[in-house]
Amino acid sequence: MNDTLNIANGHLTIGGADCVELAKEYDTPLYVMDEGTVRRAVREFKASMDECYDGRGMVCYATKAFCCKEMCRIMKDEGIGLDTVSAGEIYTALSVGFPPERIVFTSNNKKDEEIAYAIDNHIGRITCDNMEELRRISAIASEKGRQVRVILRLKPGVEAHTFEAVMTGQIDSKFGFAIETGEALAAAKETAKLPGIDLAGIHCHIGSQIHDIAPFEKAAEVMAVFIAKLHDEGIEIKDLSLGGGFGIKYTEKDIPVPYGDYMKRVSKRLKECCEKYSLPVPFVMIEPGRSIAAPAGLTLYTVGSRKIIPGIRTYIGVDGGMCDDPRYALYKSEYTAVVANKADEPKDETVTIAGRTCESGDLIGENMPLQHAEAGDIIAVLATGAYNYSMASHYNRVPNAAVVMVKDGKSRVIVRRETWESMADNDV
Ligand code: LLP
Repeated sequence: MNDTLNIANGHLTIGGADCVELAKEYDTPLYVMDEGTVRRAVREFKASMDECYDGRGMVCYATKAFCCKEMCRIMKDEGIGLDTVSAGEIYTALSVGFPPERIVFTSNNKKDEEIAYAIDNHIGRITCDNMEELRRISAIASEKGRQVRVILRLKPGVEAHTFEAVMTGQIDSKFGFAIETGEALAAAKETAKLPGIDLAGIHCHIGSQIHDIAPFEKAAEVMAVFIAKLHDEGIEIKDLSLGGGFGIKYTEKDIPVPYGDYMKRVSKRLKECCEKYSLPVPFVMIEPGRSIAAPAGLTLYTVGSRKIIPGIRTYIGVDGGMCDDPRYALYKSEYTAVVANKADEPKDETVTIAGRTCESGDLIGENMPLQHAEAGDIIAVLATGAYNYSMASHYNRVPNAAVVMVKDGKSRVIVRRETWESMADNDV
C-alpha cells in the first residue's frame, strides 16, 4: 500500500514517523502524508512517460485528489504539470509560483470569471466540455484579444470496470462530447472556426480506480482513430490527454497495475494506430490523481467508544468520519484500518468504524478486521491521501482536520487545523 508503513515498538509508523506520537502532537483526526511516497509515484509516472513517449508528453497531477499549496510546490519541484478543475485550484497553484503554462483547466461547467481568470493568468490549456462553454471561452478570449489553447473533452464510449459514480467514458455521462453520436465531430468543426480559440487537442478520462489496462488501450485507440478522422476533415490535433484513473490498493482485494506496464501498452497501441493512419504521435498528457496522492496518506482517529450489539455488530466510534472522509458513505469504498498503538497485535475482531456526525450512514467501513480497539486507542485508516481532505465537509460544524507531511521521520503541518472561529469567519 505504501512502502514506508512499518511497525516499531508495536506502533505503526509512516515515513519513519510514529503515528501515535503524531496523534499526540497534532491531535486527531489528522491526515498524514508521506512526502517520499508522493515524489516516488510522480517520478515513476514521469520516467515511464518520458521513456514511452520519447520525452514528448506531460504528467499532470489531478489536483482534485488533494490540492493544497505544499502539494503544488512538490509538483512544481518535480517538474510535472497540473490538471485543475476550478479557479480555486488554479489560484492555489499560482500562489506558490507554479508555471501557468504547465496547468490544464479541465472541468464541465466553468464560470465566466474562472475562464477569464485562466486566460488572464496564461493557463496553458483549457479543456472544454460543451458547446456553450466553447462559445463563452471564444467570446472571452476574443474580447481580451487572446488566442486560447483548447482541448475538447470527448466520451470515447469505453466502459471501465469501476464503481458507477466515477465511470465517465460511456455515452450516458455528463462529461464531454460523444464520439459515437457525431457530437464530437460537429464540435471540433465548429471549434476550428471560432475566434480566440486554437483547437489544440482532445481529451478523455474513462473513470477512476481502474485495475485493468485494456480499457485504457481501447480509449487510446478510439482517440487515435478520431484524430485521423479530424485529419481527413482538415483539422490537425497536436495534444492528446488520456486522463487519469489508475487504481490503487485500498484492501487486499485490489491488485493495481504497475504504471510502467500501463504506459508501455497504451503508448504501443497509440503508436501503432498513428502509424496505421500515417499521423505523427501527438503530445500525450495523463492526469493521475489518486495514484499519486492516495497511497501516501493515512488518517488518524482517536477511539471514543466501543458499542457491542450482541449477535449483530461492534461499533468502534471515532472522532472523525464522513466530515473528513465521505467515501464510504458515498461509494461504500473499502479501506484497511490498523490500531496504531497495537499494530503488532493480531486483527482478531471484525468491526464497524462509526463516524461522529448525526447520520447512521456516517461510517468509515463495515466488516473491517481490526485489533481489539478501546477508548483512547489511535486508529489509522490507510490510503486516504486522495479524495479525503479534498472532499471534506463542515457537516455538524466540525472543523476540517489538519494535514501533516512526514519525511525521514520528521513532520510538519502543511494545512492547519480549522478552528471554531475560522469556521464561523464568513458568518455575518
Ligand atoms: N482527469 C479527469 C478529467 C478526472 O475527472 C479525474 C477524476 C482525474 C483526471 C483523476 O482521476 P484519478 O487518477 O484520481 O482516478 N471522488 C472519487 C473519485 C472521483 C474522480 C473524479 N475524476 C473517489 O473518492 O473515489
